[in-house]
Amino acid sequence: MEPKFWRERWARNQIGFHLPQVNAYLQRHWPLLAVAEGSKVLVPLCGKSLDLMWLASQGLRVLGVELSEQAVEAFFSEQNLTPRISERGVFKVYQAGLIEIWCGDFFALGAEPLADCTALYDRAALIALPPLMRVQYAEHLNTLLRPGCQGLLITLDYEQMQKAGPPFAVTDEEVHKLLGERWALEVLQEQDILGESWKFVQDGVTRLEERAYRLTRV
Ligand SMILES: C[S@@+](CC[C@H](N)C(=O)[O-])C[C@H]1O[C@@H](n2cnc3c(N)ncnc32)[C@H](O)[C@@H]1O
Repeated sequence: MEPKFWRERWARNQIGFHLPQVNAYLQRHWPLLAVAEGSKVLVPLCGKSLDLMWLASQGLRVLGVELSEQAVEAFFSEQNLTPRISERGVFKVYQAGLIEIWCGDFFALGAEPLADCTALYDRAALIALPPLMRVQYAEHLNTLLRPGCQGLLITLDYEQMQKAGPPFAVTDEEVHKLLGERWALEVLQEQDILGESWKFVQDGVTRLEERAYRLTRV
């Protein structure tokens, strides 16, 4: 998916992925990770997710990365926050309280702002990317994040033949292939969500599972 694709999705308000509430897996499973208050958490491809607010409410410093300036501006205005804006290389950085969003291409993000990052939260980031980009994404995470880093990853799995992404199907086997060498993986929850996903049913999808993984960088 090229930057243009996502900017157009935002421009046309085609943002069905955006949830009007905090993600339930995040609230249920994040405490298991025991990420200390004051830690920095990376949220790649963050959109204008309310999850950023929830992570900050846990006393975490949040570093989101998002391509679309429209999404970033919507986040701060909808949360009634007035960000300070600065330039950091090719990124425009918006910061208010514990939350900063780096507006630009995640693949251009260097390790420097993440030197003290010990946590990762991925909801609808890996599954937003087509297969080759998922490989690049996993490799980039590996270069950015250090041993000991804790993460929560949420994936979606269905028969890719039945529907085109995004969101893309990412099997458990693929998660292991992409991340298994550098991260210890544990499935925390697996849920059949076909019944509540009428758009997938309409498109002919017959199996739809969400999985939440705990990741520990080794
Ligand atoms: C499926 S949405 C998920 C957003 C968010 N994680 C959520 O749960 O609502 C994917 C987001 O990633 C952004 N995006 C796509 N490619 C990106 C890239 N290379 N760098 C930064 N953001 C990107 C898109 O603009 C979009 O907002």
